[in-house]
Amino acid sequence: VLVVGAGLIGTSVALALRTRGKDVLLYDARPDVAEQAAERGAGVAADGIAAAADAGPGVVVVAVPPAVAVPVVLEALRLVPQATVMHTTSAQAHVQAEVEAFAPEHVARFVGVHPIAGRERGGPAAAAASLLAGRPWAICAASGTGPAAVAHALALAHECGGVAVEVTADAHDRALATLSHAPQLVASALAGTLTGLPDADVALAGGGFRDTTRLADSDPELWRQIVALNRGPVADALRAVAQPLLDLATGLDADPDAAAVRDLVARGRAERARLPGKHGGARAARARVLVDLPDRPRALADLLTAVADAGVNLEDVRVDHVPGAASGIAELLVAADAAPALAATLRRAGHAARAGGDESL
Ligand SMILES: NC(=O)c1ccc[n+]([C@@H]2O[C@H](COP(=O)([O-])OP(=O)(O)OC[C@H]3O[C@@H](n4cnc5c(N)ncnc54)[C@H](O)[C@@H]3O)[C@@H](O)[C@H]2O)c1
Repeated sequence: VLVVGAGLIGTSVALALRTRGKDVLLYDARPDVAEQAAERGAGVAADGIAAAADAGPGVVVVAVPPAVAVPVVLEALRLVPQATVMHTTSAQAHVQAEVEAFAPEHVARFVGVHPIAGRERGGPAAAAASLLAGRPWAICAASGTGPAAVAHALALAHECGGVAVEVTADAHDRALATLSHAPQLVASALAGTLTGLPDADVALAGGGFRDTTRLADSDPELWRQIVALNRGPVADALRAVAQPLLDLATGLDADPDAAAVRDLVARGRAERARLPGKHGGARAARARVLVDLPDRPRALADLLTAVADAGVNLEDVRVDHVPGAASGIAELLVAADAAPALAATLRRAGHAARAGGDESL
């Protein structure tokens, strides 16, 4: 396999393939990045696509920034004539249309594979073999994509531990506009509303603001490139977010009980319950256990050891710092039926632990 673009996604794919014993070549426009990925055990750095083609890769995975996906995919199709060429770009329809228009003779070897996972920051240092495991992988075949290329895409998703979902590029882009691209822009806009708020007031921010603005740490240029490839669906998705809020804002003056809020929150709650759970399965009931945490070395390690000793599987953990105090609150997310016993066990082990409500709180 030749991976072109040894950043977060390319290196994560490469690391997963290496655990399966596959030979991986890495090419990146920045040789230091390819070397960094190679040092992490992701494969062997190559000098270019043409140089790597001599080794006869059967699959090329293009994981470059969206703005250069089209030329790099076209170059790979031309320079590596036997290989299936895939690309991981977060928006699929534009790249597919360009390949259909400019390289119709190669479409049979072309397929999109978008692992729906990742982080706010790119680069090989943040990559991991497990990053893309247990996640949906959208497999976007063009109408002219051949069965061998689709089989290669399904195999790649499988080897990286992903859950393959075959979908057209158009349907993918509409879904991702709602599920990823608009949420990014909403988080950014929400964080942007801090402008003008004095720091003393910003200090009042709680977990809700942090959670809903987590994506605002993302790279502005990467997101410009993604949205540029998916403008129509993103504009529709933004209107779908903005309209109910504008309606609410307009109506609130004449609605002293704010009755319309109940409908908005109830609808969001009902729709969010449709999100699949861990590993794509049904969503299991989960609950939080809150534990006061002194701000000293080993405090978190001691707590996690106590959780392990209790034999409880930790679904997630987060630490919130208490403003102005040398302490924090660890929030442990566990299966709902395990939470009361865990809190009691932790208290017996000397931790200040208490039930923190179900996940939706
Ligand atoms: N980050 C995510 O969460 C995520 C998730 C799924 C898919 N994607 C998509 O995967 C692709 C890669 O994203 P990433 O997060 O790994 O980005 P990244 O910035 O971490 O890595 C991209 C790499 O491509 C290299 N590159 C740029 N131009 C090149 C060229 N012409 N030839 C060869 N290498 C080139 C860069 O030097 C960089 O190392 C993007 O299209 C993105 O939309 C990202």
